[in-house]
Amino acid sequence: PFPILASVAQLREWRAGCFERGEKVGFVPTMGALHDGHLSLVKASLAECEQTIVSIFVNPAQFAPHEDLATYPRTLEADIAALSSASVSSHPSRKVSALFLPPVEALYPSGITTDVSKQRGTFLEVKGLQEVMEGASRPGFFRGVATVVIKLFNLVQPTRAYFGQKDIQQALLLRRMLIDLHVPNPTYNNLVILPTYRDPASHLALSSRNAYLLPEERPWATVLVDALDKSQEEWDRQRGEGSGEVDVQKVIAVAEDHVRSVERQAEAEGKGVQIKLLYIAMNDPDELHDLRDKVEKGKGAIVSGAVMLGKTRLIDNIVFEYD
Ligand code: PAJ
Repeated sequence: PFPILASVAQLREWRAGCFERGEKVGFVPTMGALHDGHLSLVKASLAECEQTIVSIFVNPAQFAPHEDLATYPRTLEADIAALSSASVSSHPSRKVSALFLPPVEALYPSGITTDVSKQRGTFLEVKGLQEVMEGASRPGFFRGVATVVIKLFNLVQPTRAYFGQKDIQQALLLRRMLIDLHVPNPTYNNLVILPTYRDPASHLALSSRNAYLLPEERPWATVLVDALDKSQEEWDRQRGEGSGEVDVQKVIAVAEDHVRSVERQAEAEGKGVQIKLLYIAMNDPDELHDLRDKVEKGKGAIVSGAVMLGKTRLIDNIVFEYD
């Protein structure tokens, strides 16, 4: 249906054609195991750009040695089928134009290992934004993400690139990277962040890693979004009291308390389902400063969290407006 570009040379040739025709190129970088969340990004690109290119690359540099690089879901055939049928009613003739499927050597000419002490070649860090939230619980993760994304951007040279709020820290950190490195316009003005796509019935955020969930674990998977909703209620309640101040500790505590009570409930049912809170954090939506010991006044906030459900790591976040 669309060309599968499996080398840098093929990618460059495809991109050159778009430049010649003066077409806008929308880019959706992914690690595959595509679901409706990914497809919502693809559809936004189809609606806004003449050409849409998707990449699938399971990036070794963003996995720690103990993490799931080897078992990360790989569903290439289904991914190609899903991309082939993606379309939007505003531009019915537009389809995904190309799939970039680089081999590891194309992106890491010096090779790549998850062991940071043995890595060779060029790596990128976004200090200040990479250490908090997900970065605190996954050191090195955002170094791997920033490194692969700058490589992908230098190859694809997208007019616009599409990211999900599901990984809000990733999107904000990449935006900062594009600005700091003076990556040519218009990309950095056009790093688009789209809302988290959720299962309509349960509100669970779709994630490739949800494929790991065992049948008995699935009913518990909304523990995190439910906890974040409790924070939202607490935030709204405090805002409604009218002082304009928000006690951050309290907003975080209601989410933590919810997860801990569900942890105990799962344990009590005795079917071996294990839930473990990793963190709930609250950060300012620009610099991602930790707000935990602060009283917020006059700004919005990101409340984010991670929970282990058995062997599956779930993350989610919501953004509070402060108007
Ligand atoms: P991956 O987890 O495959 O996600 C690719 C893109 O899809 C990211 O921008 C992510 O935020 C978005 N996405 C995932 N689930 C979503 C959902 N439920 N709703 C909306 N968007 C969603 O993120 C990565 O891959 C990698 O880190 C990558 C950027 C490709 C670099 O390797």
